[in-house]
Amino acid sequence: MNRKKILITGGAGFIGSHVVRLFVTSYPNYDIYNLDALTYAGNLENLKDVEQASNYNFVKADITDASDLNKLFKLYNFDSVIHLAAESHVDRSIEDPLSFAKTNVLGTINLLESFKMYSDFKKGLFYHISTDEVYGTLGETGLFKENTSYDPNSPYAASKASSDHFVRAYGETYGLPFVISNCSNNYGSFQFPEKLIPLFINNIINLKPLPVYGDGNYTRDWLFVVDHAKAIDTVFHKAKIGETYNIGGHNEWKNIDLVKLLCSKMNKHLNRAAGESEKLITFVKDRPGHDLRYAIDASKIERELGWKPSLTFDSGLEKTIAWYLENETWLNHLTSGKYQEYYDGQYK
Ligand code: NAD
Ligand code: DAU
Repeated sequence: MNRKKILITGGAGFIGSHVVRLFVTSYPNYDIYNLDALTYAGNLENLKDVEQASNYNFVKADITDASDLNKLFKLYNFDSVIHLAAESHVDRSIEDPLSFAKTNVLGTINLLESFKMYSDFKKGLFYHISTDEVYGTLGETGLFKENTSYDPNSPYAASKASSDHFVRAYGETYGLPFVISNCSNNYGSFQFPEKLIPLFINNIINLKPLPVYGDGNYTRDWLFVVDHAKAIDTVFHKAKIGETYNIGGHNEWKNIDLVKLLCSKMNKHLNRAAGESEKLITFVKDRPGHDLRYAIDASKIERELGWKPSLTFDSGLEKTIAWYLENETWLNHLTSGKYQEYYDGQYK
């Protein structure tokens, strides 16, 4: 039987590593190729448990390098692509929008081109993993639906919106079979400690200030990363070609309430007195262009494909905290060296 060759880009990152793990272990009849440039956010330590699997392959490559991609597509003739590689952190996009345009926009176009030129693409699928940030911001009420107009505010969101548009344009223009999903904020193991939850866990462990932007009354919808990976599996196998699916946790939290919850859970884990970690909360200068609220209507993927989140926020957060406490070496590797430069620049 012909084994399917599935290319997963960005598989050494946070969400990508969970997707690679799920596909390698659930589909022994697929050959999984993880293509990743191993930027600061990519870490092969995230995949130690699957790196010996016979259906797992790692390819170090940069999606901004079109000729390298063409060579790889010629060589491997991939059947389908699940595209996660990206610059993913909003704060970094404010400092350096160009690298977001290069990786997220040009990198995506390079992949689309290589897939179109060197694969039997009409028989496969190009699946773009995107974000709810393309929709911009909500006020106090309402939910993002699949037909909500694009209205991105940060350079990161603008780059993801643009890459979504290119994927759809390849569908319309060249008949590329594609699917896009737009997901809310993920949390869980292996997340780089620049994002809110792992950054604050690390700072609580080390008794460092917890920098809450503005008044902390910004709202995000949080989803456990393993549930996102399962949603990606569901969409990849069951979605209708050319469709978009919103993915979310039905789990809205104001940042300040989430931070207080995290502090109280960490106090228990670290045997600290009630209220101790809360003393680290420090309100700092707001993020420019900070979106007020994201919230997802995920009824389409539930109704049409049968996916819904499996974990409560309480148990997901408990698992996450336990993982970071058990994996302090992983955290220490990442938070030494260059991380400190980033941290000092961002939170000076
Ligand atoms: P991440 O920053 O943890 O990982 C990104 C990965 O992409 C890293 O392994 C990195 O090495 C790789 N990469 C970056 N530039 C590359 C390049 N030029 N060539 C090849 N590889 C490159 O990101 P994440 O949080 O895991 O997000 C993965 C995807 O999911 C992104 O497309 C992001 O926009 C999307 N997304 C993220 C979230 C979230 O909450 N984190 C939510 C919705 C959608
Ligand atoms: O909504 C999906 C998006 O979620 C993904 O597409 C992005 O890749 C991912 O980074 C995430 O974006 P956010 O900007 O929402 O995530 P972040 O963890 O950076 O911030 C979450 C909220 O916490 C946001 O309102 C900003 C705030 N925040 C963040 C940091 C890092 C703080 O108050 N202080 C901080 O130090």
